[in-house]
Amino acid sequence: MALINENYLQLPGNYLFSEIARRINKYKEEHPGAEIIRLGIGDVTQPLVPAVIDAFQKAVTELGDAKTFRGYGPEQGYSFLINKIIEHDYRPLGVELDEDEIFVSDGAKCDTGNIQEIFGLDNIIAVTDPVYPVYVDSNVMAGRSGKLGVDGKYQKIVYLPCTEANGLKPELPKTKVDLIYLCFPNNPTGMTLTKEELKRWVDYARANQAIILFDAAYEAYIQEKGIPHSIYEVEGAKEVAIEFRSYSKTAGFTGTRCAFTVVPKSVVAYDSTGKAHPLNKLWLRRQTTKFNGVSYPVQVAATAIYTDEGKEQIKKVIAYYMTNAQIIREGLQKLGFKIYGGINAPYIWLKTPGNLSSWDFFDKLLNEVQIVGTPGSGFGPSGEGYFRLTAFGSRENTEKAMERLQNISI
Ligand code: MLT
Repeated sequence: MALINENYLQLPGNYLFSEIARRINKYKEEHPGAEIIRLGIGDVTQPLVPAVIDAFQKAVTELGDAKTFRGYGPEQGYSFLINKIIEHDYRPLGVELDEDEIFVSDGAKCDTGNIQEIFGLDNIIAVTDPVYPVYVDSNVMAGRSGKLGVDGKYQKIVYLPCTEANGLKPELPKTKVDLIYLCFPNNPTGMTLTKEELKRWVDYARANQAIILFDAAYEAYIQEKGIPHSIYEVEGAKEVAIEFRSYSKTAGFTGTRCAFTVVPKSVVAYDSTGKAHPLNKLWLRRQTTKFNGVSYPVQVAATAIYTDEGKEQIKKVIAYYMTNAQIIREGLQKLGFKIYGGINAPYIWLKTPGNLSSWDFFDKLLNEVQIVGTPGSGFGPSGEGYFRLTAFGSRENTEKAMERLQNISI
């Protein structure tokens, strides 16, 4: 008799964004003519920039010629891309990395979901609340979470509430934790931490032999000076932090798939005898066993982002989305909503009006004005009563959404 992994039974029925898609499809079936504006999942709408397309096409052509054809590439990624990452993403921040500390992958979602495999099941996990659901769900699947309580929290996970009371910034855990997931600029709240604030987390991790899993997928959206783009800008972070980056939101690769994870060789965790082991070696072992790398044309396309013209073109796309964020912020403020984020991140986090629950507000927006957002409670119990809108829509749809919002009954 084949037995299932019963940890899966602890999960909510659907992954958050699949549940949203299910509700949209149901609504569309019932209202075939409805023109729905999707500001829910953070999926980009602007095309890949010309520099990327040009490089992509040339690389595809190379694969059609026996002289330039390539089969399996290095599982960790091609040196041509990794060296650009070191030179353009980290060196200007004063961060030096070796080539073998960077692992090119097919997404920060995959990497943040998979990274838990290299850690023991007895680790205590801490997550901010609200949080990107992948961090929690992947630990539930592995068996680190315990049961889901009536309060919407897994018994063995430590939740770090980000509420209005603390300005949506997590406080250090009151009990000892081993693995801490941080995402800044934050998904879903759009908030950021200063270097001093981030340093408190690095200091905590160093003092407690803990590891920080730092998701920096939205760093390209930071507009204000003085906000760290990488956790390695903080002294000591190279001993305790793994960083995840992605080209999905930076360069429109949500469908193309390319990202990378940094595992410095100085980051260690311990076996049951207390002996330290570099996590870089474990992640390399995991990736070489289970992953065959990102396709050559995609890595060539990603490399084009680092050319002068690529950088310029991408900057314009990011500015386009950040103008959307401003339009959403201003539109919501005019209507009297209490809002957060949208200044250094493509997400706007709003308090639902009239104490509506997050899903009730979701249904209201869909039914009354055919706008889709993401219910805050889908990101954790502290997200209840909040709602997330993304700036990744087209300008036309973003403006239309703000006009339509004037018509909701509150
Ligand atoms: C989101 O909407 O939170 C993101 O698009 C999800 C993701 O990047 O996987």
